[in-house]
Amino acid sequence: MNIAVFASHGGSDLQAIIDGCKQDKLNATVAVVISNNGDSMALERAKRENIPAYHMSAKKYGSEDLLAEELLKVLEEHQIDMIFLAGYMRMLHVDILTKYHNRVFNIHPALLPKFGGRGMYGMNVHTAVIEAKETETGVTIHRVNAEYDSGEIVAQTKVPVLENDTPEILAARVLEREHTFLVEVIAKIIGGEIVLG
Ligand code: GRF
Repeated sequence: MNIAVFASHGGSDLQAIIDGCKQDKLNATVAVVISNNGDSMALERAKRENIPAYHMSAKKYGSEDLLAEELLKVLEEHQIDMIFLAGYMRMLHVDILTKYHNRVFNIHPALLPKFGGRGMYGMNVHTAVIEAKETETGVTIHRVNAEYDSGEIVAQTKVPVLENDTPEILAARVLEREHTFLVEVIAKIIGGEIVLG
């Protein structure tokens, strides 16, 4: 199974997937890493692991359509079976969603459908969870469609919100759980329990 990981920033989720492959917890290869951010730690991590890594953005290619064309070429070249969005801050073009129908997944740091949608990313999510006085939050892995955070949920896990949590403390607890959960869920995709395509 060849996985493409798209990531915009730190790439700690990307690293968890890479490590899962290296430790044989995942019968898969991270075949390519793509980032819209040329300075992202995610690209750095990929290079360190000798994984082909590309900085690709609409700005670089002139339009979203041209970016999609280039992305499709890269995905084909690396014979990608599944795309994982791990902290990717952009919408995927409909041509990519069509070509990889039901093969694109995203990880979200809350229990969707709560705390999702436009603007609900990064610390905004955890701040909203604390302001809503939730006692639990979690991690959601869902298929990606043309709207933010609304594709079919394939897996969720809960994480407690503790009384004195700040958004930063809660974010760290959720992210830590993401790293193990990603590997558990991708293993289910590889095993066919969660169906691709
Ligand atoms: C994670 O919290 C993920 O749920 C969200 O973006 C964050 C990525 O973190 N979509 P990192 O860049 O992998 O460290």
